[in-house]
Amino acid sequence: MLITIPDVLNKEELAVVHNYFSQANFVEGKLSAGSEAIDVKNNLEMRMSDQHMDQLNNLVMGRLVQHPAYLSAAMPAKIAVPFYAKYSEGMQYGKHIDDPIMGPPGQRYRTDLSITVFLNSPENYDGGELVVETAFGEQIVKLDAGNAIMYPSGSTHRVAEVTRGERIVAVTWVQSMVRDPAQRELLYRLSQARELLLAKSKGEQETELVSNAYINLMRMWSDI
Ligand code: NI
Repeated sequence: MLITIPDVLNKEELAVVHNYFSQANFVEGKLSAGSEAIDVKNNLEMRMSDQHMDQLNNLVMGRLVQHPAYLSAAMPAKIAVPFYAKYSEGMQYGKHIDDPIMGPPGQRYRTDLSITVFLNSPENYDGGELVVETAFGEQIVKLDAGNAIMYPSGSTHRVAEVTRGERIVAVTWVQSMVRDPAQRELLYRLSQARELLLAKSKGEQETELVSNAYINLMRMWSDI
């Protein structure tokens, strides 16, 4: 299931992000690539030690982790420190799946969900689509600046070559309390039904039944 997380960042926040990008140092993305990705990765990433990184993280991640769509669809247990990537003309990221376990010793996490936050406008570049393989075929994703997409980390995906301009994104990974994607999707759908019922018929028997089923399924399927 691919989930769009709309309006993670507004125009003013994006302007601040662009300012950080213009001052930051970038290194070859291959340096952070996992075993499967190293041969196909061709992009630039902000240097982790960059002095602006903390401020940038506070802004981007601060907004993302409070977003209701993120919370209800990811059921997050842990979220990674993001990478900030830049794809100039001719750059791309070939077909790969993300490493199952990431993070330094002592801070390891399992990657259940991958998130890309689009940080500049699709009019600023040609190509650069995120292409995710799903059971229903390829999903091609190129969102407006400030929006994010979340997809299962086990999906094969790639970033098409940028043929004009520059694509800038933040990418991060989530360990969900619910490991299984099918269970997570069912819980997400049920939580949506519950929200609708709570808004329309709070206190009614059907609301209580759905709500109890959601809460107890969450208890049954989650690990923290
Ligand atoms: Ni990837």
